[in-house]
Amino acid sequence: MKPSQPDLAAFIREQIEIYGDELALPARDLRLEAGAFSQESEEPWRKCASLQAFVAEIAACDRCLLSKSRNNLVFGSGNENAHIVLVGEAPGAREDQMGKPFVGDAGLLLDKILAAIQLQREQVYICNVLKCRPPGNRDPLPAEISQCLPYLEHQLHLIKPAFILCLGRHAAQTLLHTQAALSSLRGRVHDWQGIPLLVTYHPAALIRYPQFKRETWEDVQRLRQLYDQFLQNIQPS
Ligand code: URA
Ligand code: URA
Repeated sequence: MKPSQPDLAAFIREQIEIYGDELALPARDLRLEAGAFSQESEEPWRKCASLQAFVAEIAACDRCLLSKSRNNLVFGSGNENAHIVLVGEAPGAREDQMGKPFVGDAGLLLDKILAAIQLQREQVYICNVLKCRPPGNRDPLPAEISQCLPYLEHQLHLIKPAFILCLGRHAAQTLLHTQAALSSLRGRVHDWQGIPLLVTYHPAALIRYPQFKRETWEDVQRLRQLYDQFLQNIQPS
């Protein structure tokens, strides 16, 4: 899906607001402004039919300014044939160093959450809305999200999971195109392009607010239930 011209104009205004107009926008964005936007759909990564080819194709991505401060692009990790994809927010410092998602403190808690529903990291696929670390772990900017979202969408199209679990409000709001609060998005099953999507708290939020652990537990138990039903349907006993 290519961003519309109004999205693009908003993106450019936002870049100028944030970075100042003396800071040259990446040349590519200026070309986009000049109307070369139709080339967007012909970008080579869109034709990649495997995750491996796809990550190689976008390794040098410079769609946004996070490319200037990153050490590593953090594409995702886990089982390419996973039935469950977890989507977080953005890499943190440790993830940026290692090039892998959820390898810091939030990742340790995530492993425990998965273990609570008898899942190991190797059985699922884990990625983020943003592939590059926002400096100081600030929230992703709307412009960064709109630049990076096509990658996440392509990733999900390639994996074709049976379930998506959004970790935290950024993943949920981005994939569901809503501004609704996390508390109102969790606790029900949404639809993302035909795929059941569930929402729960971000593990980093649980470290700060352990009182949300109970609801997180309920959310992942619900996921496990649906997953068990799914497994029964594909491999009747
Ligand atoms: N938080 C995230 O959202 N993603 C990571 O990969 C690590 C921490
Ligand atoms: N706010 C967030 O960003 N994430 C959560 O998980 C909860 C509140």
